[in-house]
Amino acid sequence: MDIVVVGSINMDLVTNVKQIPKKGETCLGYGLNRIPGGKGANQAVAAARLGARVEMIGRLGDDAMADDLLKSLKINQVGVKNVIRTEEETSGTALIMVEETGDNVIVVIPGSNGKLDEEDIDQAIDTIRSTKIVVTQLEIPIQTVKYVLEKAKAFNKYTILNPAPAAYLEDDIIMNTDLLTPNETELEILSGITIESEADIIRAAKKLLKRGVKQLIVTLGDKGCMYIDEKGHKSYSALSVKAVDTTAAGDSFTAALAVALCEGKSMDEVITFATKVGALTVTKFGAQQSLPYRLEVTQREV
Ligand code: RIB
Repeated sequence: MDIVVVGSINMDLVTNVKQIPKKGETCLGYGLNRIPGGKGANQAVAAARLGARVEMIGRLGDDAMADDLLKSLKINQVGVKNVIRTEEETSGTALIMVEETGDNVIVVIPGSNGKLDEEDIDQAIDTIRSTKIVVTQLEIPIQTVKYVLEKAKAFNKYTILNPAPAAYLEDDIIMNTDLLTPNETELEILSGITIESEADIIRAAKKLLKRGVKQLIVTLGDKGCMYIDEKGHKSYSALSVKAVDTTAAGDSFTAALAVALCEGKSMDEVITFATKVGALTVTKFGAQQSLPYRLEVTQREV
């Protein structure tokens, strides 16, 4: 196994709006789409489409959405032997509005994702033991994230934490993370430093390096990203594409980092590859349905 993703599986209920409404405002939505998503499942599907052997660890509910979500993982060649059904619980759901600029707002209702616990991780321990990289995010209980990272590091695995949705993290999570991939907002919450400049990003990242994380890639939307470790930092530009929907771009970026690291590429190559994968994701509507296949990434000029 190359990559194990421990995380959320959601059904996204998506509508298009002209502009994301302000507090108290009502607006019209155009169409209602039911699209497989969830940060964890998106990362697993993205990594599999990019050519990695992937296993997912997560929880579904006992509703009809669970069948469709499981089907999406399976048809994308993601291993599902550690995807558990949860009795008397609904599957994770996300309500998403996408505006004309491609930007979105998302409300996640965790459902069965909130039931993924330490015992589930113990049940899947052989899968974690036999992988190269463990990827996780914050749409499952925080104590489960902590436990996964501890177990993964005990087996000497490379760990990637995509700290979304934004939350403050205790040291025992940070120090078991090899690569942390926050956006600017997440970095602010993690570090307690307001981010207004490149110098702020470096200061915030250094604070987290001191707390034990080994490497950071801070994503900056259309400004690209910045890599920081204890030896220094480097900026990478974004690719300019016509944005249709930014949903899952961060997920495919993280997945692509994992895939390229698994393949032993240099950090420059890893970030260049992930940048292209994230950019291609933005050009299509929806979460899992927008994730590019390896061939598209290799062939397409962006
Ligand atoms: O990152 C995008 C994802 O966030 C969506 O698919 C939605 O399910 C939420 O988890």
